[in-house]
Amino acid sequence: MVNSTSLMRFVQPEVIARRTNSRGLQLDPTVLLRHAKRAPKLDVLRRLAGRSICEHTDVSREETIELCRLAALMEANDVAGHHPLDGKLVITAFFEASTRTRLSFESAVLRLDGKILSVPDGSVTGTAKGESLADVGEMFNSYADLVVVRHPETDALRELATGLDLPIINAGNGSGEHPTQALVDWFALLKWRPELADRNVAADRKIHLGIIGTPGNMRAVKSFLLRAVDFAPAIRKLTVVSEMADPFGNVLDDADRLGFEVEITNESAPVLPTLDVVYMNSIALLGDSYHLLGEQYQLHPGGGLRPDAVVMHPLARREELSTKLDETPQNLYFAQAAGATYLRQALLTAVLDRLERLPFLTAE
Ligand code: CP
Repeated sequence: MVNSTSLMRFVQPEVIARRTNSRGLQLDPTVLLRHAKRAPKLDVLRRLAGRSICEHTDVSREETIELCRLAALMEANDVAGHHPLDGKLVITAFFEASTRTRLSFESAVLRLDGKILSVPDGSVTGTAKGESLADVGEMFNSYADLVVVRHPETDALRELATGLDLPIINAGNGSGEHPTQALVDWFALLKWRPELADRNVAADRKIHLGIIGTPGNMRAVKSFLLRAVDFAPAIRKLTVVSEMADPFGNVLDDADRLGFEVEITNESAPVLPTLDVVYMNSIALLGDSYHLLGEQYQLHPGGGLRPDAVVMHPLARREELSTKLDETPQNLYFAQAAGATYLRQALLTAVLDRLERLPFLTAE
């Protein structure tokens, strides 16, 4: 196992120097590595081999943290020369539009020397002729080693998985979940404040987390919140700003037992100046249609945010997130999106059982 000192020899300054996002906060992956003071735990990461990632419970707190540490190493070190996914083939089947998720998964595979079969639009599959998703899944078995799926219907994933023997990764299923987005989100937060992964976080370093949106029917917000519960020791208070009276729906069984204070409000102005982190999203799936958060909750410079607060957003954005925030240090959302490729590189390498090819996990 690589110790903390020798771990830093795998950090390539010229790789770190490459800016991943053009505006907003720049996150340094070595901050996370230095805080950990050790290499990612190979035995924990090995558990992910062959596993499907359909909902947040498919990745534990410990696995999340180790994946983020591995992703930080992959961000700091050009691993392409080790060909981690050589000979592996991944299907990305997207039955709903995507900019970030599909392309960052595909970028991750290609940068690790794997191959992609891309379905960027489900209408080019036999489903347009009435073929069942179960039959599509059956076909996938002989075409690839892993499947990444997005679908606008919550139950579609289950149907596609009926005859599928390969690991499947949920890239967003209707108003269900978006579990790898939550991993991407926490990868950004742990690079911003690595101590959030600790079991004992000093009282003055705990965060007041604000969510503007509705976890009950916004999948990215839901997955982020469910993952946040794993990091309860780092959270002082959660405030959910929503136009709905019950924004949680059935997401949380018992908000009273989370270990931090929870507040629900429909007014953002009074709470914004108290927040360390604001997570927002605009798109809620309501049956077959979308509902967009209006300008009522728009975030913009001078809108009450603290100067040291950070704003997260899974994107795509609409009016709720002013482009005027892009140039400010409160913009964590571009760095959040930029980290997706590295987090997904780490996840794919673990699920496809190719960790042994990474020199920083196995070198003496
Ligand atoms: N964050 C996210 O899911 O973005 P896309 O819809 O572009 O994939």
